[in-house]
Amino acid sequence: MSIHINTEAKQFHLTNGKISYIFHVLKNGELGHLYYGIAIKHQADFSHFQDGGIPTAASCHAEKADPAFSLETVKQEYPGYGTTDFREPALSIKRESGSSIHRFDFEGYTVTEGKERIPGLPATYSKPGEAENLEVSLIDRTAGLKLTLHYTLFQDLPVIARRTVLENIGNEKIRLERVMSLSLDLSDSEYMMMQLSGAWSRERHIKERKLESGIQSVGSARGASSHHHNPFLALRRPETTETLGEAISFHFIYSGNFLAQIEVDHYDTARVMMGIHPFQFNWQLNPGETFHSPEAVMTYSDQGLNGLTQSVHDLFRHHLISSNWQKKERPVLINNWEATYFDFNAEKIIQIAKQSKELGIELFVLDDGWFGKRDDDTTSLGDWFTDENKLPDGMEALSEAVRAEGLKFGLWFEPEMVNEESLLFGEHPDWVVHDPDRPKSYGRNQWVLDYTRREVVDHMYERMSSFIKSAQLSYIKWDMNRNITEAFSASLDFEHQGEFFHRYILGVYDLYERLTSEFPDVLFESCAGGGGRFDAGMLYYAPQAWASDDTDAAERMKIQYGSSFVYPLYSMGSHVSAIPNHQTLRNTSLKTRGDVAYFGTFGYELDPNQMTSEEKEEVKIQILNYKKYRTLIRDGDFYRLRSPFTSNELLWMVVSKDRSEALAGWYKMLAAPNPKNGQIIKLAGLDPDASYTINGQTKPHHGDELMRRGVNLSPEFNGVNGPWAKRGGDFQSEIFYLKRLL
Ligand code: GLA
Repeated sequence: MSIHINTEAKQFHLTNGKISYIFHVLKNGELGHLYYGIAIKHQADFSHFQDGGIPTAASCHAEKADPAFSLETVKQEYPGYGTTDFREPALSIKRESGSSIHRFDFEGYTVTEGKERIPGLPATYSKPGEAENLEVSLIDRTAGLKLTLHYTLFQDLPVIARRTVLENIGNEKIRLERVMSLSLDLSDSEYMMMQLSGAWSRERHIKERKLESGIQSVGSARGASSHHHNPFLALRRPETTETLGEAISFHFIYSGNFLAQIEVDHYDTARVMMGIHPFQFNWQLNPGETFHSPEAVMTYSDQGLNGLTQSVHDLFRHHLISSNWQKKERPVLINNWEATYFDFNAEKIIQIAKQSKELGIELFVLDDGWFGKRDDDTTSLGDWFTDENKLPDGMEALSEAVRAEGLKFGLWFEPEMVNEESLLFGEHPDWVVHDPDRPKSYGRNQWVLDYTRREVVDHMYERMSSFIKSAQLSYIKWDMNRNITEAFSASLDFEHQGEFFHRYILGVYDLYERLTSEFPDVLFESCAGGGGRFDAGMLYYAPQAWASDDTDAAERMKIQYGSSFVYPLYSMGSHVSAIPNHQTLRNTSLKTRGDVAYFGTFGYELDPNQMTSEEKEEVKIQILNYKKYRTLIRDGDFYRLRSPFTSNELLWMVVSKDRSEALAGWYKMLAAPNPKNGQIIKLAGLDPDASYTINGQTKPHHGDELMRRGVNLSPEFNGVNGPWAKRGGDFQSEIFYLKRLL
């Protein structure tokens, strides 16, 4: 790994043998971009990589009328506003005079081993020897601003993490109006843009479009990263597939408002940007103050989209998710939400726990409805005291009873919310996010607490930490069920009001930071009406996320398939629930529900006492299987092999890093009459020279055979083969567990 610096030509080459990222100081003193892609050998001088240099109709640089030099036609590192580039900039400022013009000249650089933390923000981290960091500083002396661009190159991954720091080194106040975390100018726009979009209950569906002239973007201005667009973008060449070709992905390590944007200009170059959404954002930077942007990461693959995914999963597993949770097995859990909703008492819960233990479940999670007087979603959020009507002996006693059955115990909280009908609102009406001159909009009958205020965060820290200690919690599901309206805080004045959304998320992170550092062994699962805040920022604190409220197996295939572009399998909460499914009213077999949920952090969301004895036996086997698979699911390489978005089937698999075991899941949505029997599916990622047993059968198969010729699916019902058919009907599935012979 190396960061080469040519001090004379002022060129920087970041390379780790997988990728190269090259930039330099332009002749006017600003930073220009030269190359990003597969690693190329280091050269003494890369100046011939600069595009442009040919006179065009563009505006040329002010100091010296040089028609061959214009920012409009050179690739830049962190484009600004006000001179010869008319595309959207990475930075936007306002000086006291009202001027927005700025220009940053190269000042110096430092290279350090490893990574520093970003104050108050989640970010990737590294152990000594795993990463190098380059900081390049630039100064606008007229505005009195210092800009520092951070680049972290990871040793074994085709990944660069980027972020921006602004420091007011002058005497006047500066208003920051847009601070992107990264900007990348690409020489051409021959790409498909991939995004993960959706809505409640159908999060992270894959959408693709060809890049076109103009601006294309996704973002959120809801106060959370959102169900609607994930803070992610990928570019693939039109010919790139899951296994072949070039692709780049961009991930934002942040949970609030974001913008991910690509601008294609009149020369068909593409400018990618990612950062806090500039809409409803500004930040007052007084003399001596510093602003840190969140981090964004760029990943490059020349091995198709699966190559991209595998690198991102490795990055998040080893450099983002808390090291405390990297190698810990996640417990098979049962959550009572779909089993009871608000209607439970201690006895019902203990019965569920008792039965769960017999099935092999390891953790019981008591969901919504245990606090205040909460019998529906109209009251009590904010009143984090045990509802003694439901649980007269208190939470400690319930936890003790559940733990006496041999399960761990966890609780649901929605710490950022309050109901109008609550003691907390009565005591602190000013703690609600609202504009005092206007009515407050409701969302799920609730309001949002003002996390820009320290006293609100302190209050919730006290409430949650007290339950962690008294009820000996092993797990917390942290929910957030509505977005922010009337975004205004009485604690912020006119100059600072534009900081509201970012300060809100900083408050959320502060609470997460305090709780996770004081209680490192409590497993946090993030949730926001399902997957409404499933993002890399949350993953830093909460190693798993409730991927969606939709537990329907068929819908989950799409949700988990889409999510896999960003999130490691072991971070996706995926549960088997009862049928008819509560979100779609669809019936799928218990087998298919389990076969889908295996590819995540596995659990149940039903009342096991309502199951037949055959179902209980099947569930016991599912749980035993998952316990066998879970290290593989946690650490393996994931392959998407057939997409539910483009076919009636889904095929995915996970292969251990040493290729000694693998798990493949094949699924078919709708059955059709007279299907082909003897269907073959091709696997991937295996050792071609090894032999594998499949599902414990004695006859081994060669790795090369399984990948090149494929494996046979079992016979499907076709109207006449009743006695032989092994599967049939809608939403069928097959699981292949492969073990390499020694
Ligand atoms: C949200 C969550 C669900 C459940 C309910 C409880 O919708 O996503 O899993 O916890 O809240 O109210």
